[in-house]
Amino acid sequence: MNKKTGGLAGLIVGDSAISTVGKEGLGLTYRGYSIHDLAEHASFEEVAYLLIYGELPNAKELEAYKEKLFLLRDIPDALKQVLEIIPSNTHPMDVLRTACSMLGTLESESKEYAQQDIADRLIAVTPAILLYWFQFHHQNKRIKITNDEDSIASHFLYLLHGKKPNPEHVRAVDVSLILYAEHEFNASTFAARVTTSTESDFYSAIVSGIGALRGPLHGGANEAAMQLIEKFKTPDEADTAVRIMLTNKSKIMGFGHRVYKISDPRSDIIKTWSEKLSKSSADKHLYPVSERIEKIMRDEKKLFPNLDFYSASTYHYCGIPTALFTPLFVMSRLSGWSAHIIEQRADNRLIRPEANYTGHEPRPYVPLKQRK
Ligand code: COA
Repeated sequence: MNKKTGGLAGLIVGDSAISTVGKEGLGLTYRGYSIHDLAEHASFEEVAYLLIYGELPNAKELEAYKEKLFLLRDIPDALKQVLEIIPSNTHPMDVLRTACSMLGTLESESKEYAQQDIADRLIAVTPAILLYWFQFHHQNKRIKITNDEDSIASHFLYLLHGKKPNPEHVRAVDVSLILYAEHEFNASTFAARVTTSTESDFYSAIVSGIGALRGPLHGGANEAAMQLIEKFKTPDEADTAVRIMLTNKSKIMGFGHRVYKISDPRSDIIKTWSEKLSKSSADKHLYPVSERIEKIMRDEKKLFPNLDFYSASTYHYCGIPTALFTPLFVMSRLSGWSAHIIEQRADNRLIRPEANYTGHEPRPYVPLKQRK
């Protein structure tokens, strides 16, 4: 691969006023606000509003926004029927991709459904879609989409566990949704912007984003990290196995980053949550195993954990099945994708780069009968 152009590394491919990633002295900011301040003080709903509408809401606007999201939580019957016929062994990311596409046929973009309304609808309904499918196929029940819980995080945990969620778990999920919400021109956002640039519809752009996020080099890393961590009963066991994996040149999911070179500012925040939840969990090895893997990666490869690594144990401590980790990323990133779709549309030009051709020199066509 051409080292210069491979993976578009280091190329600036457009303007954006939504976030900064890894800029010296800034780290990660959403519309100028530091991720540390947002994760400390804000809710995911405030952050989604900030990304989609451009400013933090005041108290009245936030109340109205949350009310709007409540009213958009229910799933149309036709979509429930689709969710029921999707096979139970389907990966939940494929369920979300299909469901988003189906919703786009039922509530297609029009004057009636403006772009911000579609963004809000998707943010409000996605937890219900995911858990309707999950509970139908894995618990044999058709859940009722209730409005008992007031935040996206608590609504998700309520639909998953069928009971009032633990407030510490709610805040941990809420913070993770804030951290996952936006990250500039990452692969899935870029995919969504490319689709948008052809003047396609909102849902098609989101489906492009979901498809790109699914892979283990991007959003799928949180599930892959969990699958690795849970293999080990002790830090020493992890130590031996991870060193062998590194010798074999295997990648350890949840480490490294294309843009950050020293650390991922989101990782320390989610690690604090993982440590906090580990104290009240019956599982006593997950956190020490994770810390040991982190140490080996620093010592051996000078690599740091990215957001996905400690998100894995955080979600596990909240009782969330591993297959729902990347879908949680979708629930959050819908806000960032939406902000980018709206921004791309506001000053659009078709995104169409060129390839460095490495194929044959021009040659004459050989008629079929003369070919060997
Ligand atoms: N485990 C082991 N080695 C890793 C690694 C990891 N997680 N991440 C990078 N490396 C090594 C590569 O093997 C490569 O080594 P080499 O130069 O000896 O071949 C070097 O570091 C550069 O990695 P590369 O994959 O070329 O960097 P990139 O910028 O193209 O990729 C990622 C960035 C994120 C795709 C990459 O770090 C990765 O695959 N991480 C694991 C998946 C992950 O956590 N994704 C979520 C990202 S938020």
